[in-house]
This record gives sequence, C-alpha cells and structure tokens, in this order.
Amino acid sequence: MSVIALIVAAGRGERAGQSGPKQYVSLAGETVLARTIRAIAACKAIDSIQCVIHADDHELYAAAIKSLSPAIKKRLRKPINGGATRQQSVMAGLSGLTDAECKTILIHDAARPFVSPALINRVIDAIPLAGAAIPALPVSDTVKLLADDGTIISTPDRTTLRAAQTPQGFYFPLILGAHQAMVDRETTDDASLVEALGGRVVPVAGERSNIKLTTPEDFVMAEWALTESLTTMGYDVHAFGEGDHVTLAGIQIPHTRGILAHSDGDVILHALCDAIFGAIGAGDIGQHFPPSDPQWKDAPSSTFVAYAMKLLREHGGTLVNCDVTLLAEEPRIGPHREAMIENLSRLTGLSKQRIGLKATTTEKLGAVGRGEGLVAQVITTLRIKREA
Ligand code: CTP
Ligand code: MG
Repeated sequence: MSVIALIVAAGRGERAGQSGPKQYVSLAGETVLARTIRAIAACKAIDSIQCVIHADDHELYAAAIKSLSPAIKKRLRKPINGGATRQQSVMAGLSGLTDAECKTILIHDAARPFVSPALINRVIDAIPLAGAAIPALPVSDTVKLLADDGTIISTPDRTTLRAAQTPQGFYFPLILGAHQAMVDRETTDDASLVEALGGRVVPVAGERSNIKLTTPEDFVMAEWALTESLTTMGYDVHAFGEGDHVTLAGIQIPHTRGILAHSDGDVILHALCDAIFGAIGAGDIGQHFPPSDPQWKDAPSSTFVAYAMKLLREHGGTLVNCDVTLLAEEPRIGPHREAMIENLSRLTGLSKQRIGLKATTTEKLGAVGRGEGLVAQVITTLRIKREA
C-alpha cells in the first residue's frame, strides 16, 4: 500500500503570458515540470509519481523528463491525459489508480516547483489525523470581499484566513469519493470537496517559497531567484600574415594583410567564446577547438560562438551584456561597426543596446602599435544558475 503523488500538469497557463504551457517553460535551464517532479521525488516517503498532462503535450512531457535521473524516472508512472479543468484533471488521475495500489495520495500542482521535502513530510504526517491534510499559510495582505460589481462589501478578519497550497494529502478512497460526489461543483483545490461533504481537513505549515507560478512576474522572480550574476572576460591575439582581409566579429574587412591562424582568426569571437567559457568552468577555446585538429582549418568562428552559447544554455545561463574592445592600428572598423554589432547580436541573441564595441590604437606602442597583429578583449555579464 503505497504513497502516490499525483502532479496535475494539464493546464494551459493562460495567465502566465509565456509562449507555451507554463509547466514546460525553462527556468534557469530546466523546465518547471522537471523541477516539480524532482522536488516531489526528493521526499523519500513517496513511492511513485503520476503526472496528468494535456493530450497535446506528450512530446513536451517526454522532452521535459529527459533531464531526470534514472532513479527518479523509475518512480514515474506513464502519464495520464487530463481534462478541461483542474478538477477534471485530478479526477482523470484518480480514476487511473486503485485502492489496492494506493493508500495515500498527494495531489500537487505542476506549477509549484519549489516545494520542499519538509513541507511534504508535514502533510504526510498529518493525514492520519483526519484523512486529509493541506499546507496553508497565514495571509499577510489584508483581504477584501467584493460584490459582483467590484465594490467592497467587507474586510474579513485576517487572522482567521489561510492561503491553501499543494501538495494536499488524502486517504485515497476519501478523495476519490469526494471527487465522484462533487463533479458538478467547481473548485480550485481538492480539500474544498472534502470540506463541502462535512469532512475535516487538517492544516499544516505551508512555505512562502512554495509559490504557484501563475503570472509573468512570478516567472521573472523565479528566474532571478534561481540565478546569479557573473562577470567574465576573454582575451585573444592574432598576428598578421599573408592576405587581403581580416575577419572581426564575423565580418570580413578588406586590409592589406590577412591573419595568421588555423581558423578564420577572428580575435573578437575567440575572446567572446573564452568569456562565455569562463562563466561555466569550461576551460578555454583551445580545449574545445584544438588548433591541431584539421576539422577547424579555416572554420568560421561563428561556429565556435554557437557552440559556446549552446553550452551556456545547457548550464542554465543567459548572456546579459557583451562589451568588446579591439586594439588595432589598422584596419579602421568605423565603416563596419554597424554590421559587426548586428552580427554579434545575431550570434548572441543580445539586443544591440547590450553590445559594446570599442576600438583603439595603441599609439604606435608595442606589437599592436608596430602593426604586427590584433588584440581583442571581451567582458561579458551573465546570469547563471546558482550553485546548489
Ligand atoms: N491544471 C490541469 N488541468 C487543467 C487546468 C489546470 O492539470 N485543465 C493544472 C495546471 O497545469 C497547474 C495546476 O492545475 O499545474 C494549477 O492550475 P493553474 O495554476 O490555474 O494552471 P493553469 O490552468 O495552467 O493556468 P491558467 O489558469 O492561468 O490558465
Ligand atoms: Mg487554471
């Protein structure tokens, strides 16, 4: 007789303002649903996890659970299709289970990825008291009761109000019976069905961090909480050689000399790659694209940037700003500046306002001053997933 967690994930997230259903939105590199499954699985008392998903979302679901460990995947049951309302989705999930396999059930919103094992255990421990237990929080705002026309009727005593969270825990037959008896009554949580039938529901301490991601602001705040700001730099030098152009920020600029390099010798893009690698402990560009490897001969450095950006995304990172300084006596980049910025914007996904591109001569001093080559320095600011 086991404890099963039912995660309802069949909603459309109309209020969240994201480009798809909110449970499949990526937060610091991992989908909300994968985070929620991991958070639920962190509670050892839960034997298996049943997700309820939208019939259109099977591919999104398969992609979302890819990142989960084999141990967690083993506890995941095959997803069940949900319904048009949360209540119908819960009902669909409950209908797929039997008394024999499920004694206790925890019903959880996929949109609450920050639930802690301590909260889940408090709920599980309180279920035997009445067969139903929910996490609840005192309300910190003063709450107003409104009439249909929007006018305020009254101000209930805040000390007697609680905001209900999930997971809500029940003896399985109790909540299945309540859902079956109350199909015609619309509610936004499961405990209210037990209450309506006269059953007792025990509140335990919820957690402020266990928010339900609902609005666009919730996503902004969650991303902010999961990531931190880093500043990193990259630096590259190439000597001039034979040729009639140099490549800078992916743009070919006519010149009396070329660049001595295995690839296209783009000092700006190489320095950009190193700045990105510096934010994720990924070494330097030479480790990823060794000059000794013939496949990178004359390679366009945009390939290297695309790879660095992909690694960055896989680490839950995003670029915020990219500031480039080129040291060069010649060629002048003025006529090419706009094209270079546009290309950097295309390669990094940054807006043009978030890209700095400066060039300076070195007043004829040193190797650059003698016209022997080019130097680029790139400083980037990034948001990266916080270390656990
Ligand atoms: N849910 C569900 N099936 C539905 C509606 C909602 O499984 N037909 C799930 C959601 O996926 C979510 C949880 O119930 O995990 C809580 O619902 P809510 O926050 O309202 O999510 P959505 O219905 O997706 O969002 P919205 O109401 O803004 O459209
Ligand atoms: Mg909803």
